[in-house]
Amino acid sequence: MSYNLLKGKRGIISGALDANSIAWKVAEKAHEEGAIFTLTNAPIAMRMGEINKLAEKTGSKIIPADATNMDELKNLFTQSQEILGGKIDFVLHSIGMSANIRKNIPYPELNYDYYMKSVDVSSMSFHKMMSAAYQLDAMNEWGSVVGLSYIASQRTFSFYTDMADAKAMLESIARSFGYHYGKHKNVRVNTISQSPTKTTAGSGIKGFEDFYDYAQKLSPLGNATAEDCANYCILMFSDLSRMVTMQNLFHDGGYSMTGVSNEVMEMVSKK
Ligand SMILES: NC(=O)c1ccc[n+]([C@@H]2O[C@H](COP(=O)([O-])OP(=O)(O)OC[C@H]3O[C@@H](n4cnc5c(N)ncnc54)[C@H](O)[C@@H]3O)[C@@H](O)[C@H]2O)c1
Repeated sequence: MSYNLLKGKRGIISGALDANSIAWKVAEKAHEEGAIFTLTNAPIAMRMGEINKLAEKTGSKIIPADATNMDELKNLFTQSQEILGGKIDFVLHSIGMSANIRKNIPYPELNYDYYMKSVDVSSMSFHKMMSAAYQLDAMNEWGSVVGLSYIASQRTFSFYTDMADAKAMLESIARSFGYHYGKHKNVRVNTISQSPTKTTAGSGIKGFEDFYDYAQKLSPLGNATAEDCANYCILMFSDLSRMVTMQNLFHDGGYSMTGVSNEVMEMVSKK
């Protein structure tokens, strides 16, 4: 069902790799809700060509950009304004990568080159994206920027290694840039802290399936799906949330506020 929540709005959506990606669902919903937008991803991620299907379905152009590269990000905002015919109203940062996680390197033994890359790709890119927009004056007044986070930024999850630190930085950047962009142009900046979700990035984490089931059992509403997350992103891009900024918003079926559930007790019960 469409409510035309984004009618007349222009956006940039990063991170749609395949149909499981959270960003993919956001693009589908944004299209349904009347927005026009460009799609972007790292040039290397486009080799599979999946994103072309999404572009076709949503009538969008694709602009490749490595989110760690300032020149490519500036080109992304310049070209997006030309293609969409004006300043940008919403931006989705849906980007994360850790070679330490991919290679199962334990936290006390992190590879520091990988660690720097994790931070550059997964969090500093959030700053770079907004800085590119800020310097080009590419955002409209009351625009909305959303990044995707995970609760391991605030509580320890043994398997999340350097991504926990990257997400802590991502959430901090939302507060800091949110202040400056708010003062400058009333642009809002928030992170959404999403449940474990079965995507390429999510499933790359060791033991993900077991943990997914654990989170499902702990959360009173169960895990939030990628589609649920997309709905929340649409709300955050819409004018209905115009006074919300600098927040980390939990979108996790109640997981973050639950100590223990009956289902988890049953799982560990020895009786
Ligand atoms: N899946 C989960 O369990 C989960 C939970 C909470 C938060 N998140 C976050 O959601 C976001 C989206 O991840 P997803 O789960 O949809 O997985 P995904 O693998 O579909 O998306 C990650 C995207 O990051 C892109 N990317 C990587 N390096 C890049 C670079 N240098 N420049 C531009 N793009 C780059 C990838 O190409 C990919 O499209 C990430 O920030 C992730 O940490 C995921």
